Amino acid sequence: MKNTVKILILMAMGLFLGSCYNDTFPEEEEGPAPTDVSYSEKIQPLWNTDCTSCHPSIAQPDLSSNNSYNSLINGGFVIPGNADDSVLYQSLLGSNGVSLMPTSGQWPISQIKLVESWINEGAKDN
Ligand code: HEC
Repeated sequence: MKNTVKILILMAMGLFLGSCYNDTFPEEEEGPAPTDVSYSEKIQPLWNTDCTSCHPSIAQPDLSSNNSYNSLINGGFVIPGNADDSVLYQSLLGSNGVSLMPTSGQWPISQIKLVESWINEGAKDN
């Protein structure tokens, strides 16, 4: 009997801790969203570091510096003004059934927010 109670308590704790896991969405992070995000200065360097090893050699979109903007917009991976509905943004969260990118693990929220702001500010080629 005692053991059953212990097991139930442990299970309850597990559920409680489990419910905290994966709860971090960028919207919940403290601090204002970054503004006036420059694609060439802030976003492309992130692709160069974490994405171009596979994009485009293994998969679309092409994230190499000469073609990335074109590939993201014309390939339909980015919907200017709407990060939530953009596959690119969903890939950084692993949400909506899109595979999490980069494949090695989720970026820090600050980097994801840069991409979110850039898209929501109109996804300018700036
Ligand atoms: C180790 C290789 C690898 C790396 C690194 C990588 N990707 Fe991918 N990516 C893939 C593969 C393979 C696919 C296609 C299959 C899939 O969706 O899982 C893909 C698909 C995608 C898609 C399309 C998803 C869809 O459903 O159409 C996007 C957007 C994307 N990656 C963005 C990125 C971004 C942004 C980075 C860097 C932060 C990145 N990827 C890093 C391998 C990689």
